[in-house]
Amino acid sequence: MSRILITGASSGIGEALTRSYQARGEQVIACGRSQAKLEQLTHLNGVSSLQFDITDREQVMATASQVGQLDTIILNAGDCEYIDDAINFDSQLFERVINVNLVSVAYCLEAWLPHLAPHGRLVFVSSSAQLLPFPRAQAYGASKAGLTYLANVMQIELARHDIAVSVVHPGFVATPLTDKNTFDMPFKITAEQAANYIIAGVDKGKSDINFPGLFIFILKFLRALPSACWRAIALRMQS
Ligand SMILES: NC(=O)c1ccc[n+]([C@@H]2O[C@H](COP(=O)([O-])OP(=O)(O)OC[C@H]3O[C@@H](n4cnc5c(N)ncnc54)[C@H](OP(=O)(O)O)[C@@H]3O)[C@@H](O)[C@H]2O)c1
Repeated sequence: MSRILITGASSGIGEALTRSYQARGEQVIACGRSQAKLEQLTHLNGVSSLQFDITDREQVMATASQVGQLDTIILNAGDCEYIDDAINFDSQLFERVINVNLVSVAYCLEAWLPHLAPHGRLVFVSSSAQLLPFPRAQAYGASKAGLTYLANVMQIELARHDIAVSVVHPGFVATPLTDKNTFDMPFKITAEQAANYIIAGVDKGKSDINFPGLFIFILKFLRALPSACWRAIALRMQS
């Protein structure tokens, strides 16, 4: 039985991860903002919760004394907001998204890395959106590109501390985050399927966990083409 801390556990992928790990007998510390949603998980055997706003460094640091020794940390909390009018750039929206998806992760690392056991694993949930520049995704894409870079450096830096690092790049997953999207979401999977991919990847010790495979293959293929090809496709997506 291992102790797993999951941020963003009150909804979507994080909730599915919490339920799957709990079902196989692990101890889960479920983190989120919504106390009501966390309470729906804490009645499950082995699930405890921590309620805080991840963008508030003081609140994150205050949890450090409560987490105990951890075997796995899954940094999954995040949000997506789109920039609809690039010429009237909304810097506050940009700041909000970067804070919740990237800066908050630094607070979590500062608070919890000292509590990660030797042979522990750190998991960053980034996004396949960081592979290409998608229309309106200036904030979300930049935050996830930054997060993947951070995760890749931590893979190098933490190796000598015997801590393994995984970075996850999901395609579209049906959750409250994507429910508000009005555009087509090809290859969309359920949160439970996403959790299964992540858990299987973590169990195998994979450093890169990308899914669904065909969607990621197509994005990587498009990225390998001259950048003008993707720009032509992206311009058509806008109209
Ligand atoms: N859904 C997709 O298609 C998709 C694709 C690629 C990557 N991802 C990534 O997967 C992760 C999970 O997304 P999801 O789709 O499962 O979204 P979701 O259902 O909206 O869940 C987001 C989670 O993050 C938590 N959270 C957000 N802001 C927070 C804050 N300020 N403080 C503390 N917790 C906060 C939420 O907590 P509360 O509800 O309690 O506020 C919630 O538990 C995100 O990092 C997202 O970028 C998702």
